[in-house]
Parts: sequence; structure tokens; C-alpha cells
Amino acid sequence: MKILVLNGPNINMLGIREPGIYGKSTFADLLALIEQTAKDEGIEIEQYQSNHEGCLVDKIQEAYGKFDGIVINPAAYTHTSIAILDALKAVGIPAVEVHISDVSQREDFRQVSYARLACCKTIMGHGLEGYREAILYLKALLEGIIGL
Ligand code: DQA
Repeated sequence: MKILVLNGPNINMLGIREPGIYGKSTFADLLALIEQTAKDEGIEIEQYQSNHEGCLVDKIQEAYGKFDGIVINPAAYTHTSIAILDALKAVGIPAVEVHISDVSQREDFRQVSYARLACCKTIMGHGLEGYREAILYLKALLEGIIGL
């Protein structure tokens, strides 16, 4: 089983950016948590972060035929990017949307999520742990233990 974990703009600034909202754990901590989850679960995981919308679209397109699932935190592009939505729809790979913060409790402009329209689940407000939950959910879904 191969899962692609994608992070959008400024997620590489974790630990520095707005710790009151995103916590004190660093981006390196996030990468390590995901690596450990992959090891524990016997899943092959590739991680990719970009501050550029087109690079994220390219990575989603390249996942076609190669990955069984996608975990994506599109960050600010969540609220603006029809291109990321279309890419997720184009490849048709089961995808889970993750947000570190609880976007439902934040500004009005964060209430729209385009990516969500192509995702089978959204996990928000669970901090870095949300990524582990997303991976476990995708694993159970892909193994047929749970349905959509
Ligand atoms: C975020 C929430 C977005 O609104 C914001 O632009 C981010 C991070 C989150 O993980 O909570 O960059 O996706």
C-alpha cells in the first residue's frame, strides 16, 4: 500500500508560525510522526511539501497509477484552489483532507474548502495527530475494513 502525504504553503514553518494556532511542534516533528506511522503500519509513504500551487498539482497528477491514497493539507490553497480540487478529481485516488487547526472555528474566509469536494474525509483540529488518523483511516478504507 502506497500513500502520498502532501502539505501546502507554510506548513514547513511549523514550530515557528503562529504557535498559538498550530502548536510548537516543528515540520521535522511532523515528518518524523508520519515516518513512524508508516513503519508501525507497514505502509509505504512518500511526503512532499510545496509553497507553490502548480507543484502540488503536478505531484497529484504524478500520483496517478502509483499511489493508493492521498493525505493532503492544502493549507491556504484549501480555500482558493480549484486547480487542486480538479487534480484530485482527475486522478480519482481516495484522499483525506487534514487541517492542524480547527478551521471551522476560524475566519469566514477559511470556511470554504474546494479540496474537500474531492476528499472522502476531513480531519481538522487534531494537531499533528490528525495526519496519523488520516493514514489509519485510508489504510482501513483501502483494506476494505471500513466503507465510504
Ligand atoms: C491549515 C488551515 C489553513 O486555513 C491555513 O491557511 C494553513 C493551515 C491547517 O492545517 O490548520 O496554512 O490548513
